[in-house]
Amino acid sequence: MEDPYRRIAGIYDRLFDNMNRGLRLAGIRMFRPSKGMDILDVGCGTGSHLQLYQRYGCNLYGIDLSPSMLEVARGRLKDSIQLDLGDATNMPYEDHKFDLIISMLSLHEMAHQTQSGVLTEMKRVLKDDGHILLIDFHPGPYQPLQGWIPKLIIFFSELAAGLEHFKNYRQFIANKGLSTLATQHDLEVEKQNTLAGGTFAIFLVTPKICTDSRATIVL
Ligand SMILES: C[S@@+](CC[C@H](N)C(=O)[O-])C[C@H]1O[C@@H](n2cnc3c(N)ncnc32)[C@H](O)[C@@H]1O
Repeated sequence: MEDPYRRIAGIYDRLFDNMNRGLRLAGIRMFRPSKGMDILDVGCGTGSHLQLYQRYGCNLYGIDLSPSMLEVARGRLKDSIQLDLGDATNMPYEDHKFDLIISMLSLHEMAHQTQSGVLTEMKRVLKDDGHILLIDFHPGPYQPLQGWIPKLIIFFSELAAGLEHFKNYRQFIANKGLSTLATQHDLEVEKQNTLAGGTFAIFLVTPKICTDSRATIVL
């Protein structure tokens, strides 16, 4: 399969790290990791996000579909973190392993069916009392200037990333982004925030607990 990040992986951090760092730190403020937690980054890309979590003494894991992005991540993180090449719709982790799953700017570029597969897998590998922290584009409303400038930059970056990527981004925004995905996948929104004039959203979610009082046990 063609790696859509083959040409851009080497310069990805130089292009986006300044903008992305503020979002990553806002995510850490929303859910502060503590020592010994098992944390997975889904669509970990070049490993910048995982690198920030290293200072908290957690057990870190990353999975990504792109060999070229993972190669950059491996160069950055050496052997300190388990990095797996693979599709997050079929993850190589045991059930209920992680305290926290993070995923930043990955869901918007997937087709709707893939998003569903990834969220189902996230719920499988999450501990019963675990949390999922999602950071992605927000459908607005955008504040004048503060929101419209980043929105325009994002629009043209997504267009440059190829037609398939652009189509999925447009679909994600038309479907109202993370809030629709949370509803469709029975995720309880614990906290949410928007940043950069309404261009990005951060959602801290947890799977809803099924409390069906009609359930009976037949002996
Ligand atoms: C825009 S990059 C963001 C990378 C990283 N999360 C960050 O914040 O810098 C999106 C990443 O999601 C990965 N990705 C897309 N679909 C995926 C899938 N089905 N399984 C795993 N990774 C996927 C891509 O390969 C890419 O590295």
